[in-house]
Amino acid sequence: MPDRLKAFASRKLNRLFRREAGYSGLNSRQVFEKIYRDDAWGPAHTDNREYFSGGGSHDPAIVDTYVTAVQEFIRVLGKKPDVVDLGCGDFNVGAQLVEFSSSYLACDLVAGLIDENRTLYRQANLSFRVLDMVKNELPGGDVALVRQVLQHLPNDDIIRFVSKLRGTFQHLLVTEHLPSGDDFPANVDKPIGPSIRLHSGSGVVLTRPPFNLAPKRERILCEVEQFGGVIRTHAYELE
Ligand SMILES: C[S@@+](CC[C@H](N)C(=O)[O-])C[C@H]1O[C@@H](n2cnc3c(N)ncnc32)[C@H](O)[C@@H]1O
Repeated sequence: MPDRLKAFASRKLNRLFRREAGYSGLNSRQVFEKIYRDDAWGPAHTDNREYFSGGGSHDPAIVDTYVTAVQEFIRVLGKKPDVVDLGCGDFNVGAQLVEFSSSYLACDLVAGLIDENRTLYRQANLSFRVLDMVKNELPGGDVALVRQVLQHLPNDDIIRFVSKLRGTFQHLLVTEHLPSGDDFPANVDKPIGPSIRLHSGSGVVLTRPPFNLAPKRERILCEVEQFGGVIRTHAYELE
C-alpha cells in the first residue's frame, strides 16, 4: 500500500478507536445502554420514545427493502415461522414482520429498551425478552434475524455467537453494513461500540475467518447502498 494511503487508513482507524474509547471498561450491556443514553445513533423522533436505534432502523429506503425481502422469504418458506429477533433494537423494523410469523420473540440486552417496546407493541404472537445473544443460551426457532448488530461487536463476541448456532435455527438472516464490492478485508477486529467496521474499510462476513460459518446454502436476500457502502442481508440455511 502506498505511504499516502497507509497514512489515510491509519488516521481513519485512529478516529474510530477514539470514538470507541469512551466505552472502554464497560461491559456489553453498559456499552449499549450508554449508546442509547447518549443518543449516539441519533435522538428518538417521537415523544413516546426514549430509545432510537439509528437511521438504518428508520430510513424507509433501507427498511422497506428489507421488510419486503423478508416477507417474500417467509412466503416462499410456505408456512409462518417461529422467528427470533436477536438485537431487536427499537423494533421499528421487527414490528413490520410480526404478522407474517407464527410466533415472534424479540430480544435485546438493554432492559429499558425491552420495557419500552413491551408498552408500545402488543400482539398475541409477540413477546420480548432481555437476552445477551453472546453470553446467554439462544432460544430456538425456525428463523433468526440479526440485523445490524454484529457490526458493533468485537470478533471474540461474534465467534461466541456463531458457536451456538448449529441446531438452533433452520435459517439465519444477517444484515451488515459492508464496504462496496467483494474484495474488502473481511472481519478486521474492532472494540465494542457505536461505530462499525466500514470506517476501517472492513465488514463482518460470517463465512470468512475467523468465524467460518459453513451453511448448507447461502444467498444475498437484499441490499441497499448507504454511506459509500452497502447494507446487505444474507440468508443462510443452517446445518
Ligand atoms: C443498531 S441496533 C439494530 C436494531 C435492530 N436490529 C434494527 O435493525 O433496527 C443494534 C442493537 O443490538 C443490540 N445488541 C448489541 N449487542 C447485543 C447482544 N450481545 N445481545 C443482544 N442484543 C445486542 C443493541 O442493544 C441494539 O439495540
